[in-house]
Amino acid sequence: MTQLTQTGSSWPDLEARMRDMAQGDVKWRDGRTGMYVFNAGEDVERVKKAAYAMFSEENGLGPMAFPSLARMEREVVANALALLHAPEGATGAMTSGGTDSIVMAVKTARDFARANGQSGQGNLVTPDTAHPAFHKAAMMMDLEVRRVPTKDFLADVAAMEAACDANTIMLVGSAPCFPFGLIDPIEALSAAALRNDLWLHVDACVGGFLAPFVEMNGAALPIWDFRAPGVRSISSDLHKYGYCSKGASTLLFRDKAMKDHMVFDAGPWPMGRMLTPTLAGTRPGGAIAAAWAVLNYLGVEGYRAKQALVVQAREKIEAGVSKLGFRVLGRPQLGIVSFTHDEADCFAILRGMYKRGWMTASNVEPPSLHLMLSPKHAEVAEEYLRDLEASMKDSVGAAPMPAPGYAR
Ligand SMILES: Cc1ncc(COP(=O)(O)O)c(C=O)c1O
Repeated sequence: MTQLTQTGSSWPDLEARMRDMAQGDVKWRDGRTGMYVFNAGEDVERVKKAAYAMFSEENGLGPMAFPSLARMEREVVANALALLHAPEGATGAMTSGGTDSIVMAVKTARDFARANGQSGQGNLVTPDTAHPAFHKAAMMMDLEVRRVPTKDFLADVAAMEAACDANTIMLVGSAPCFPFGLIDPIEALSAAALRNDLWLHVDACVGGFLAPFVEMNGAALPIWDFRAPGVRSISSDLHKYGYCSKGASTLLFRDKAMKDHMVFDAGPWPMGRMLTPTLAGTRPGGAIAAAWAVLNYLGVEGYRAKQALVVQAREKIEAGVSKLGFRVLGRPQLGIVSFTHDEADCFAILRGMYKRGWMTASNVEPPSLHLMLSPKHAEVAEEYLRDLEASMKDSVGAAPMPAPGYAR
């Protein structure tokens, strides 16, 4: 066990040591990672770091002490609601990330259902592509997850509706799902939710700050946001395609009566009641400030330009991998693409890419390569494709590789 050093070190010394530790990290600034990081360029990085540093000690737990943060959060949430065509009266909150938003959405839907007479163990009905965060929420709240097989990688609405019963507290769709980057048929899920008076949550952690701008740029996307009348809540991450600092997501509700069930009124303890809008006590001021700053730094035009690069990168990759004999899974329209090969060993190719400095993900069902693209990838797509071809050549005749394990 290493004990805390007796005497402190100088900042230059610590900085040098940390730079040294980072030597082995993936070269994400060069566009070498298709997961974990959303690289919108150096200028955006500078803005968010400066804004984060300005408010790194302030605490969103205290809106009376820090009306600045309360205002920034209100404005960020209002921006998110407007982008997702929320109706008058819609509301929301910032959370620390996608998992947090999803867990809070499930808690809200559960308490809403209970307040409306549901009793016994509640269940969530999700497509099998829904993020494991729903499972985490279910584990914590003793709920059942009914994971329904997808059809052509998209939510099978009829099968999901058939899986619902009186204890269903939430239907889930993704916009898009992480494994394949595809937008579930939210309008059909919305109709099913309305027919059965169910809570429909759209997990737009990945797409919430991407799809609106892709649509503004002219793509014909299916309706997946509050324009679908059965959608009651949406999770939309700032720290993904919003390009904000990590620790920032939004959870949005069609109306306040729904959101009221998210609030924790905890205690009593010696200090009386503790009312918090989300699970968190301390809420990092830096993440709120950085989100506000990046949204206002980029504006609609800035996001449209960045998201056009993401789509451009995806189109280049799709065309290139198709030439190499890969099959793109489904019809992605945003920034994630997965592709499989009928003859080549995708996991051996992935290993080859890793050796060439690319940190990217894969699917196990079906075995496929996965990319979550950033604006930076528009610059490096050709390099990626050259390395992919070389890795394919290396994989011929090699022993089959098992699926790699990633933290994701
Ligand atoms: C579709 C989707 N939902 C939720 C999450 C969870 O987000 P976070 O990692 O911010 O908790 C992810 C993460 O990749 C995701 O892709």
